[in-house]
Amino acid sequence: MKQRFILLLLGMFALATPTNCAASACVTEVSDEAPIEIKLFHHSTLTESAPEIVAEFKRVGFIAVEGVPGFGDAYQQFLATARIFADLSKEEQAVCTGATYAARGWSRGVEVFNGKTDTYKGSYYAVVPNDSSNVWPDESLPQLRNAYQNVATIVLEAGKQILPLVGFTHENVKGLGRMLHYKSVAGGEDDGNANWCGDHRDHGVFTCLCPEAFYRDGEVVSRPANSGLYIEGRPVGIPLEDAISRNVVFFQMGEVIELMTKGDVRATNHLVKKATDGSELFALAVFVDPIDEVIINFGGSSAEIIDKYKDRLTEEEIVSGIVTFDAWNARSLAKYNPKELAPPTV
Ligand SMILES: [Fe+2]
Repeated sequence: MKQRFILLLLGMFALATPTNCAASACVTEVSDEAPIEIKLFHHSTLTESAPEIVAEFKRVGFIAVEGVPGFGDAYQQFLATARIFADLSKEEQAVCTGATYAARGWSRGVEVFNGKTDTYKGSYYAVVPNDSSNVWPDESLPQLRNAYQNVATIVLEAGKQILPLVGFTHENVKGLGRMLHYKSVAGGEDDGNANWCGDHRDHGVFTCLCPEAFYRDGEVVSRPANSGLYIEGRPVGIPLEDAISRNVVFFQMGEVIELMTKGDVRATNHLVKKATDGSELFALAVFVDPIDEVIINFGGSSAEIIDKYKDRLTEEEIVSGIVTFDAWNARSLAKYNPKELAPPTV
């Protein structure tokens, strides 16, 4: 398993020379700041676009794909259901908080980035496809399970088509969904954190990310100025109606890939800035991670890469150049979830 995983990853470099561009320019709607250029690929031509996709993951660690079959309808259904969940009472939501709420079920205001708590950020984790470890609101909102699993499965399947193009095989990965609800900030409220979600990199292999859905006073609204997703310090997004009608999904690289490629592929720094106009924001991410026993081989990495990740590596692992995903995952969750062992806040 270990050898195959690493060899397949190394196969990525054989694809790394860009050929003629099959992608169109960036997709973004924001005008308040210069957006970052993100390449848009079509789902039907992913295989022939592989060299350019790899080049984009090396350049910025992030791509957009349109034409993902069935995405728009499933995402609309999911968003409608997620909004109902967000309006449930705290008691009804608390029923859905898992024993390990950094990995299953509902929580809000538990993650800490750079010393600041993401007070307004709500998360609902679930394994994809569904299994018995997931927690669902079967009493208060039984339709959430299917709405969530349907769209999460669609984006996970698209992600599994992209991973082999960049050298991974889907036989060694699993999906973990995360419904995101960034609660509106009432006028005058200030928790000392300008972000809904602080600056970070995803710590797994790969993230399938559904475009942002902003609402204000119950209606879909355009992305408010100076808010929403930023990658590498610059805004990125697409109007929700376009994301739905064109079936657009984003994909971004995580820290495991950066470690395994010794920094050749970028794990994307990103954050979500708060809207200050009373808007709330919904989204869904599906993390694609290796199975626990997979070995991350980062041997031969530069001092810069080691320094970047030494907060979650032991001295012994730094010397040997290997760490299991299980250990890496546990330390990463602990880093961002210091309240994990305390009673959850709902
Ligand atoms: Fe993230």
